[in-house]
Amino acid sequence: MSPTESPERPESYDVLVIGSGAAGLGLALRLAPHARVAVLSKGALQEGGTYYAQGGVSAVLDESDSVDAHVADTLDAGAGLCDEEIVRFTVERGPAAIRRLVDIGVPFTRVTRSDGSQAFHLTREGGHGHRRVIHAADASGRAIESTLLEHVRAQPSVTLLADHMSVDLITGRKLGLDHDRCVGAYVLDRKRGRVEAIAARFVILATGGASRVYLYTSNPDVSTGDGVAMAWRAGCRIVNLEFIQFHPTCLFHPKAKSFLISEAVRGEGGRLLLPDGTRFMERFDPRGELAPRDIVARAIDHEMKRLGIDSVLLDISHKPAEFIRAHFPNIHARCLELGYDLTRGPVPVVPAAHYTCGGVATDRHGRTDIEGLYAVGEVAFTGLHGANRMASNSLLECLVFSETASADIRARLPDAPPPPRLPAWDESRVSDSDEMVVVSHNWQELRRFMWDYVGIVRTTKRLERALRRAELLRHEISEYYGNFRVTHDLLELRNLALVAELIIRSAMSRTESRGLHYTLDYPQPDTTHPPRNTVLTPPPAGTPGDPGIAGGTP
Ligand code: FAD
Ligand code: SIN
Repeated sequence: MSPTESPERPESYDVLVIGSGAAGLGLALRLAPHARVAVLSKGALQEGGTYYAQGGVSAVLDESDSVDAHVADTLDAGAGLCDEEIVRFTVERGPAAIRRLVDIGVPFTRVTRSDGSQAFHLTREGGHGHRRVIHAADASGRAIESTLLEHVRAQPSVTLLADHMSVDLITGRKLGLDHDRCVGAYVLDRKRGRVEAIAARFVILATGGASRVYLYTSNPDVSTGDGVAMAWRAGCRIVNLEFIQFHPTCLFHPKAKSFLISEAVRGEGGRLLLPDGTRFMERFDPRGELAPRDIVARAIDHEMKRLGIDSVLLDISHKPAEFIRAHFPNIHARCLELGYDLTRGPVPVVPAAHYTCGGVATDRHGRTDIEGLYAVGEVAFTGLHGANRMASNSLLECLVFSETASADIRARLPDAPPPPRLPAWDESRVSDSDEMVVVSHNWQELRRFMWDYVGIVRTTKRLERALRRAELLRHEISEYYGNFRVTHDLLELRNLALVAELIIRSAMSRTESRGLHYTLDYPQPDTTHPPRNTVLTPPPAGTPGDPGIAGGTP
């Protein structure tokens, strides 16, 4: 354990960052010279969506590319729902965000030009009209996460707290004060098995996405939507949660646990095939394999259902073996371990839940509806992604908004009130659970019905079925939460059940098909009204059924 990871720490910080992915670490690094910062991670520090990112980060880095072109591609992928101002704001800041990563030593892949000079290699992915994805071979996230972590660890003003899971945000309203500022969080120290209060002037949600709400997902275990659930319980609006992105190509293998085959494989010429070796994507979109993800995932789903097959094939073996090994060393190695050689033939692939386009409503500084509370990264809704995120725009969003949020916090720190003393977590009325099977059963049930009823293709009837189950589960879990000592699994389940319900309610309120939301009952976009966001507003505290008032918290 390094000195900055010491368990002896003050109970109050200037800034509490919940999450240690690209968004959380990016923020911590920017704030370190100006503030005392604590960073929480509910598991190992590097574990999160960021670490597993493969393709890279999109930014305008080539002379033949332009901000206008990147903006236009993003708007096109977003199917009419992107906030154009936010898209431009983000895209314009992309090159500087990449420069900051290069400056701290992220080892992006370089190529030697014909004149002998060096340049960064840029790859292509779906929806992009140019090569504009900078990457570190096929393990871009690992390179970014490790480099950020190394730099954050070196900051004496930053305390890194692994295995610390935030349970709920603490606001003035919850404490019965006359303001509703966020003043800290209750945090489960998983190793000690106890919940403590951590106070801060500013709190940042950087908790990543919610794709673990689905049975099949490319996401790591930590992506359980905790930030959205905590923000909702604290009183924040949640926007566009129906737009869950399914990545078209996860490896289909019982031992692969949804291992991703990067879109860059298609970007570099990979073809999607049916079992008889025929290509099919051009029947669905003239851009073929490089159409935006919603179109490719839906086309695969359609072909799998039409032919009654478990997977389709992805083939890049027509490219030289050396090229494949150089560009995709990790994917190639993992496939080999599982018995597939990318250089010799195709691999079976299926779509899986990958990215949460909606999230906690924020402005361009990452501010949420609650004073002192920010949300940055996949947990946030900024307006960048619209109804479908374009590939590699997510890490870009993490990097750009961690910068704008940190600048905003820096400017506001001198006037921010110190947090009050926080009441301790009250466990006087709970006991240890003797029926953990309830938790594991509900986990499985939830993720299965979300996959079956709220997946790539939806219907009103399926959504209604899913809602009935989600409500039942939420009540059961809330009762359980009120009576038993909290555990990591129970907290995640509680959050997943709430997020599932919010996804279903958002999907039910969208009576059209647009981007990632496709329903057989309304198969076309609604052209009679301007495109609209789905905004869910939490009920006032104390309303019956408000999940925020159930058990546990003092
Ligand atoms: P994450 O990196 O997911 O980090 C979340 C953090 O929050 C973790 O530290 C976690 O422990 C912590 N946390 C969560 N809940 C709590 C809690 N209750 N208490 C305390 N801590 C908590 N995007 C791209 O742009 N390009 C790509 O090439 C790309 N490839 C991808 C490949 C894969 C396999 C996956 C899964 C995603 C990919 N994405 C890609 C998406 C992108 O990686 C993520 O959207 C992005 O990394 C999210 O970063 P983040 O900082 O918001 O969250
Ligand atoms: C990939 O490498 O295919 C993932 C890219 C992304 O999700 O942006």
